[in-house]
Amino acid sequence: MKPTERPQRPQFSSGPCAKRPGWTVETLSAACLGRSHRSRAGRAKLREVIDLSRSVLNIPDDYRVGIVAASDTGAVEMALWSLLGARGVDVLAWESFGKGWVTDVLKQLKIKDARALEADYGELPDLGRVDFDRDVVFTWNGTTSGVRVPNGDWIDDGRRGLTVCDATSAAFAMELPWQKLDVTTYSWQKVLGGEAQHGILILGPRAVERLESYTPPWPLPKLFRLTKDGKLNEGIFQGDTINTPSLLCVEDALDALRWAESISGLPSLIARSEANLGAVTRWVDGASWVDFLAVDPQTRSSTSICLKLALPLSVKKSKDASKEIAKSITTLLEEESIAFDVGAYRDAPPGLRLWGGATVEQEDIERLFPWLNWAFTQVTEA
Ligand SMILES: Cc1ncc(COP(=O)(O)O)c(C=O)c1O
Repeated sequence: MKPTERPQRPQFSSGPCAKRPGWTVETLSAACLGRSHRSRAGRAKLREVIDLSRSVLNIPDDYRVGIVAASDTGAVEMALWSLLGARGVDVLAWESFGKGWVTDVLKQLKIKDARALEADYGELPDLGRVDFDRDVVFTWNGTTSGVRVPNGDWIDDGRRGLTVCDATSAAFAMELPWQKLDVTTYSWQKVLGGEAQHGILILGPRAVERLESYTPPWPLPKLFRLTKDGKLNEGIFQGDTINTPSLLCVEDALDALRWAESISGLPSLIARSEANLGAVTRWVDGASWVDFLAVDPQTRSSTSICLKLALPLSVKKSKDASKEIAKSITTLLEEESIAFDVGAYRDAPPGLRLWGGATVEQEDIERLFPWLNWAFTQVTEA
């Protein structure tokens, strides 16, 4: 039977993600538009984003927080191009975005002493193989496989290399152990439900020390330059962005951060996301046709929740069949305006991906399950 109760908000995309509950475009009416970002008013907005991000995420005082260009990718590549080459590098990859960083390090920067530690979709590489005498590049949450590192225990406190962590689909939904992270990046479009194209780059003291003592042998475009005359360009971390940000996006990020504060900050954001994962887990446990792509429950993401089809014997079990079925389910749910953008990422095994970040209401994700079951029946019995 076709369910009757609909999710109030059908936005389950893994980026850009659902806006915070109650968001309307009026939220942006206080934006500092038509003004220079270097004006007192514009700079104050940028500064407020930095300060609020620091307080919501409990970022230590001696860490720098900067707003940079080109979203999370911009922030990660700025770090890789500015910092790497001083030591050997271990790059970890277990899905598409991590693999992108492997390409950057091995094929673009061509770092000679670089190792790619990789695993298939659903698994983590062997974290015990990571050598912390080297620089280590990794993704906290693999958005396209729904596999996250369970915690930071595997990261050596006495490391000599730097850790560079792409935390874009983890920040604001997962605890990040700052003392173990020398560089951390994210963008507003994920757990905050903000807009894309602005990246956040967080540097610990050890990363700053590297920047001030090492100059990479390759040219650095202006957009990547974090130092001036061998010293950190501190202005970047006080709201003096390298190039022009969108003050409309900045206002939207401020709104998201104020919302985060209003619901008691990080613990509550994490709890909301974990509750979404809990709801999906209960449903998957009782469903006969889906399973988590993440093999180890400890590594299951609470944000990008990736599911594979566990097709019953009565349904043909080829990869193509899974792909067709998943595609038909997502198309049907989109046509019904029940769930948008819940297909697996294009490079991932066929299946579904439900965003369970903090801006998604548990009730909405729960209202989705009967529709998913219905859609599965519709497309397999048609
Ligand atoms: C883990 C990860 N890294 C990087 C990116 C790229 O982010 P952006 O489009 O903000 O540059 C994404 C986007 O989904 C991601 O999930």
